[in-house]
Amino acid sequence: MDKIIVTGGCRLEGTVPISGSKNSTLAIMAGALLARGKIVLRNVPRVGDVYTMVEMLRYLGATVEINGCDVVTIDATYLNNREAPYELVKKMRASFWVLGSTLARTGYARVALPGGCDIGARPVDFHIKGIQQLGAQVSLEHGFVEATASQLRGSDIYFDFPSVGATAHLMITASLARGITTIENAAQEPEIVDLARFLNALGARIQGMGTKHLQIEGVDELYGNEYTIIPDRMEAGTFAIAAMATGGDIFLRNAFWEDMQPVLSKLEEAGTSISLEWNGIRVEGPDRPHATDIKTMPHPGFPTDMQQPMTALLSVADGTSIINETLYESRFKYAQELARMGADIKIEGRSAIIKGVPRLTGAPVVASDLRAGAALVIAGLMAEGETEIASFHHVDRGYERLEEKLCALGAQTQRFQEWVEGEELCSV
Ligand code: UD1
Repeated sequence: MDKIIVTGGCRLEGTVPISGSKNSTLAIMAGALLARGKIVLRNVPRVGDVYTMVEMLRYLGATVEINGCDVVTIDATYLNNREAPYELVKKMRASFWVLGSTLARTGYARVALPGGCDIGARPVDFHIKGIQQLGAQVSLEHGFVEATASQLRGSDIYFDFPSVGATAHLMITASLARGITTIENAAQEPEIVDLARFLNALGARIQGMGTKHLQIEGVDELYGNEYTIIPDRMEAGTFAIAAMATGGDIFLRNAFWEDMQPVLSKLEEAGTSISLEWNGIRVEGPDRPHATDIKTMPHPGFPTDMQQPMTALLSVADGTSIINETLYESRFKYAQELARMGADIKIEGRSAIIKGVPRLTGAPVVASDLRAGAALVIAGLMAEGETEIASFHHVDRGYERLEEKLCALGAQTQRFQEWVEGEELCSV
């Protein structure tokens, strides 16, 4: 497992190509198990979590090929395994979503329950209740969820909270159910819209994507097709924050403005200048960001995945910012690492009170999860001297060659190999 050293103080400037969305890709690959025939996915990011999903699909019997730099072909016509082991599910929570597609395709699935996570409890009760509502017999034994249904049936599903994972999982599962499924209080994230468009391209009949009300008319079969994945709004957001953090000027090539509005409007409030161009977004940072308050919310609110990089940025803002994290109860653990770099952050329950300091100083720190790692990179870019970030493999799970892209913009980073035995993984 790698560590990187970031030398702070460089102004970032230039164009960065934004890769395909990790979260879209994971949902789409789970959905790909529904189809017979060849699926060609384009704009697939080369990140660790995608390789884990490739491993999962192959384990279940699908043929998966990685071609060129961003193309993956999947043929799940023949599935010869209906059980997903804990070794794969514990690597990445999203691999649990193969439960629904395997069940819908074969009438049976046995998938290990994902465990806890550094950012909070993250249960899967909505997923299981929804699959039961679609007519499956579900039992939980020995750490596995076992589901059986000779024919899934459409149902009216309501979520207490618009869970991204449960919306994706049940949309996939209901695509092959008999009759109509409605999902009320569904997630509206761009990645959910992307998944629905992908499934429709295979022959599914999904309406209402991007709203709280989804309607899925089940079909008998889905077939292969080609599909291009949307740009990753979290990667683009991270580079936008990096531009601000270094008073830089970065063009986010391929980034979609519509998907990034919640983040961009907060960055503008904090003093950045944003201009939209036909093929991307230009972000120019101020000398010092202004303090701003943030509350994380489901889309179209401010995304929880950008909370950590934003906290790093606001740690040097002019004034005091308050961040309220409504989705995950433990998503402030990395604040202790920022404090080691001189940040003044007080955690009270689900809120962080950040008193902006004039400067951070480089220190050895540890990335506890994907976005925490991104936050430490942002902090390292701003800090005086060197910041050594251990457990960088967390970052590799969701960012494609992050430090290489930063270096192309003028950052100074070095990567070193290290190995921490028995370390648990956690990505979001
Ligand atoms: C997805 C994203 C992750 C993002 C999160 C919220 C992927 C691979 N990951 O994660 O990057 O941070 O959405 O935008 O797409 N909940 C329940 N019961 C459930 C399911 C969820 O109580 O059955 C709760 C969770 O504990 C959490 C909230 O709902 O508090 C949001 O979780 P959810 O939207 O499901 O997140 P994920 O799909 O795991």
